[in-house]
Amino acid sequence: MDVFAAMKERQSIRKFRKEPVPRDQVLRMVEAASWAPTAGNSQNFRFIVVQDKETLARMKGIVDEVLTRTTGKETSPGKPSSHNLFAYAPAAVCVVGLPFESSTDKALREKDPERFKARRFQVNPGLQGISAGIAQFLLAAHALGYGTCWMTGPLIAKAELESTLTLRPTEELVAIIALGKAESAPAKPPRKAPEEIVAFR
Ligand SMILES: Cc1cc2nc3c(=O)[nH]c(=O)nc-3n(C[C@H](O)[C@H](O)[C@H](O)COP(=O)(O)O)c2cc1C
Repeated sequence: MDVFAAMKERQSIRKFRKEPVPRDQVLRMVEAASWAPTAGNSQNFRFIVVQDKETLARMKGIVDEVLTRTTGKETSPGKPSSHNLFAYAPAAVCVVGLPFESSTDKALREKDPERFKARRFQVNPGLQGISAGIAQFLLAAHALGYGTCWMTGPLIAKAELESTLTLRPTEELVAIIALGKAESAPAKPPRKAPEEIVAFR
């Protein structure tokens, strides 16, 4: 598949068919993620693929409970929301970030903490690499005929989900990718024109 076509066609899918995603297909998506650029080639991510219905239901229960307790928003039974739709997909791919500190960050942290603080907020090379991996995962899934939704909404319950997934203390849950064959695809949200978001100097 042409890479430009894949980028334009991919869109967030929020309704999925029930059929499971075969392991070899997931492995191809994970391999595509591993080819993404990461700071220092750290490849500072791993993926926990949750397909077990009970685990998905437990994760949904946690997200719904924390969402209601913290924001007062109620979720409707059986109706996917922008926070819990991953639990209605055949697979929820939990993206786990591993600790990463670039040599520049280390030098700044030790020698110029003020600059370090500002820079970390704006730059975060560790997170940028993970995002590149997720983007490539999504494109590979699309090329293989699968729909995805990149989600941070469920991370309202980040600590609780991390404990359910038994992450190591240094690891963090960064996102959840809902994955499966698309049941339906909504109209694709428009994009800004290239001229609007580019400057040549
Ligand atoms: C970092 C990130 C977090 C997102 N979190 C959610 C989410 O929690 N729930 C959701 O329904 N969509 C989520 N999305 C999907 C965006 O809403 C979607 O990508 C955007 O509206 C553009 O639509 P498209 O992906 O169909 O092109 C997220 C996307 C990104 C990149």
